[in-house]
Amino acid sequence: MIPVFDYLRGYQQIQGEVEAALRRVIASGQLILGPEGEAFEREFAAYAGARQAVAVASGTDAIVIALRALGIGRGDEVITVSHTAAATVGAVREVGAVPRLVDVDRDSLLIDPDQIEAHIGPRTRAILPVHLYGRPAAIDAIGAIAARHGLAVVEDCAQAHGARVAGRHVGTFGAIGCFSFYPTKNLGALGDGGLCVTDDSQLAERMRQLRFHGFDARRVSQLEGRNSRLDEIQAAILRVKLRHLETGLSARRRIAGEYLQGLSDARLSLPECEPDTNHAWHLFVVRTRQRARLIEHLTRSQIGYGIHYPVPIHLMPAYSHLGYARGSLPVTEYAAEEILSLPMFPELAADEVRAVCRAVLDALRDE
Ligand SMILES: Cc1ncc(COP(=O)(O)O)c(C=O)c1O
Repeated sequence: MIPVFDYLRGYQQIQGEVEAALRRVIASGQLILGPEGEAFEREFAAYAGARQAVAVASGTDAIVIALRALGIGRGDEVITVSHTAAATVGAVREVGAVPRLVDVDRDSLLIDPDQIEAHIGPRTRAILPVHLYGRPAAIDAIGAIAARHGLAVVEDCAQAHGARVAGRHVGTFGAIGCFSFYPTKNLGALGDGGLCVTDDSQLAERMRQLRFHGFDARRVSQLEGRNSRLDEIQAAILRVKLRHLETGLSARRRIAGEYLQGLSDARLSLPECEPDTNHAWHLFVVRTRQRARLIEHLTRSQIGYGIHYPVPIHLMPAYSHLGYARGSLPVTEYAAEEILSLPMFPELAADEVRAVCRAVLDALRDE
C-alpha cells in the first residue's frame, strides 16, 4: 500500500526531538500562551521573513482573525476563489462578510487576476488569494490591483509553507499571511494550529488581542475576541518540525521532479510553476478526463489518492445562499471533475514514486 500521506514516517525520524520537547513543556507547568508559543512565533516570522507572527488555533481562525483585525465584517465583500478548501470561504462568512468568488486560471487553477477587477464594487474591502497546492498565486498582479482600488490583500498560505516568489516567502506580500498547521500540511502539528504573519505591529497587536477574548494587559476585553490560542505542546512540536521544514521541502521538490519526469509521456496534464517562483509542492495534482478509470486502477494497485476538491464551494449546499448557479464559474467546475492528487510527502521513496508513475501510465495507456 502506498498512502497519499503518512505522517508516521516523518514522525519516526524526529521522535526523540519531539518527545524531549513534550517532556519539557509538560514539566514547565505552562500549557497555554507561554515561552514555546512566543519562541515559535519568532522563529516562524524569521523563517518567512516577516516582522511579526501571531499563532492561533487553526488556519481557519488565522483567516477569521486576519479579516477581523482589518476591520472587515458585516456589509463588506471579500474577493476570493471557489476552488479552495471550504475554510477559505467559511472564514469570510464567519466574520459576516460576503465572498465574491472569482474563477481560476485555466492552467494554474489559482485566482485569475484578469477577472478580479470585474468583481470589485463599493463594498469590496480585500482580496484573499489562495496559494493552492503550494503554488504561489499571481501575487504581483493581485497586489497591483489591490493598490489601485485601496484594498487589503490577505494571503491564504495554508498549503504554501516554503513557497516563494522571487525569493520572498508567500504571506509577506499582502497585509497579512495566514498559515495552517493541520497535520497534513508542509509544516504540520500533531493536532490543529495556525498563524498569521504581518509587518504591521498594530495589526499584530490587534490579532494578539482577538485570539484571546480581546483582552488588554489587565484582561479587560477591549475588543470582542475569542479563544484561539495555539497551545504550548503544539508550539513546541512545531518548533522541532520547523527545523526540518527545508529538508522536507527539498524532498518534495525531488519527488515532484521524479513525477514530472516519470509522467511526461502520460496522457494527463501535469502541474507547472512559473520561473522565478518556488512551488512548495504540498500536493501533486494531475488532471485527466479519465479520472474514474485512473482511480479504479490506483485502487486496484493499492495506491492512495485524494481529490482537492471534489465540489467547488459555490456548489456546496451550505453556500447555495451566495447565489452562484452551476455554470457560473466554468473553469472551477470543469477542474473539479478532472483533478487528482497523487501521493506526496517527504518520506515517499523513489521506488514508490516509480510504482505510482507505472500505475498511472498503465491506467491511461489505452486512451
Ligand atoms: C487552502 C486552505 N485554507 C484554509 C485551511 C484551513 O486550515 P485549518 O484546517 O488549519 O483550519 C486549509 C486547511 O485545511 C486550506 O487547505
